[in-house]
Amino acid sequence: MAGHSNYVPQSAAAKWLESRLPVISLVRGSFVDFPTPKNLNYWWAFGGILFFMLIAQIITGIVLAMHYTPSAGAAFDSVEHIMRDVNFGWMLRYLHTNGASMFFIAVYIHIFRGLYYGSYKAPREISWILGVIIFLIMMGTAFMGYVLPWGQMSFWGATVITNLFSAIPLVGEEIRTWLWGGFAVDNPTLNRFFSLHYLLPFMIFGVVILHVWAFHTTGNNNPTGVQPKTKQDTVPFHPYYTIKDLFAIVMFMILFAWFAFYVPNYMGHPDNYIEANPLVTPAHIVPEWYFLPFYAILRAVPDKLGGVLAMFGAIAILFVLPWLDTSKVRSGTFRPLFKQFFWIFALNAVILGYLGAMPAEGVYVILSRICTIYYFAHFLVVLPMLGFMEKPRPVPASISEAVLKGGSGKPAGAAAAPETK
Ligand code: HEM
Repeated sequence: MAGHSNYVPQSAAAKWLESRLPVISLVRGSFVDFPTPKNLNYWWAFGGILFFMLIAQIITGIVLAMHYTPSAGAAFDSVEHIMRDVNFGWMLRYLHTNGASMFFIAVYIHIFRGLYYGSYKAPREISWILGVIIFLIMMGTAFMGYVLPWGQMSFWGATVITNLFSAIPLVGEEIRTWLWGGFAVDNPTLNRFFSLHYLLPFMIFGVVILHVWAFHTTGNNNPTGVQPKTKQDTVPFHPYYTIKDLFAIVMFMILFAWFAFYVPNYMGHPDNYIEANPLVTPAHIVPEWYFLPFYAILRAVPDKLGGVLAMFGAIAILFVLPWLDTSKVRSGTFRPLFKQFFWIFALNAVILGYLGAMPAEGVYVILSRICTIYYFAHFLVVLPMLGFMEKPRPVPASISEAVLKGGSGKPAGAAAAPETK
């Protein structure tokens, strides 16, 4: 990363530091002089937005933890105490809960950006795989965080999800007891979830550093999918992308503030304002919105173990995606058929989300099954076959050619080369 730095230490102190620990040239090489494709659109701002959200979650979380009590008898009241008595406690809590949702909105956009522009394809497989690991840790963190207020959904959500592990043959029951720290979701469960909820964001931070290192080694992808060839194809990260990302972060913060200050409970469930009660099961146990598509996949399979495997498989399949897509062309911009399947896949994911919120009965179950099969078919059938069947549009020779002659993503002379030819 430091290899891109134009930094030459001037002062004696800077020279002294540089010869011992070259952090200044590392930072400059990574975030100042770093050559970045000049045609990145706003979908590329979501990586920066995610970094901002991670820091925001860590800061609000640390302050919340100063006032929160991780015990089954006191957790619910301690959250009410934060909301009512702690100075700006209501704001901290609303920023943190809505921040989790905003984090997932950003990560889903970031993932779908990668899917559309083929950012997972060689040579960026490692950036992608590290991203999937981040996504998994994010889900674990959010799941355990939701248990902490010890409301009805916290308790019953934790009960449903931890019970899934009992489906594992032979050792399932033992694993579940081990996770609980007892024979039901109770005080020991809450305690360990709090401990892990505090730890995992720092693990995410560590994996994010590897993630950034990986795509700084290969260089960023861009909307054309064509690797930069000359110096004309790139611009230094600063000031071009620092200012562009900052603008996007401010826009995103406005949306975030709107949720946190005007509709702070819109994305939550009212039952979580009722204290956990092991003797009263809520009518519908639903997870937070960002888990709904996976929840629908879980319930689509009639067999418990099968459902668990399908749910984890839906994420695991992302690990091998770079090897399932057989197309030689990276960016969806030049893949007419892929584009259509991409949007069908996105719609399918939204429908799965809707189905995850519906009761698991009648037509909803049938639709969940169809959508689950389609989800897997997209990766296992559509993407492998498209590479052989599809005739891509001509790809520009370079980023500069695409930018100067044909607008953002079009190749030179695109008008004369119809997609069907
Ligand atoms: C805390 C979560 C994450 C952070 C902070 C983060 C950060 C970033 C940043 C700053 C970039 C460069 C700018 C951009 O392309 O947007 C990036 C690129 C990338 N991210 Fe993430 N990311 C996160 C999660 C993920 C996840 C969950 C995935 C996929 C499952 C992923 C896949 C990728 C890929 C493939 C690239 C390379 C794209 C390119 O080279 O242009 N990331 N990430």
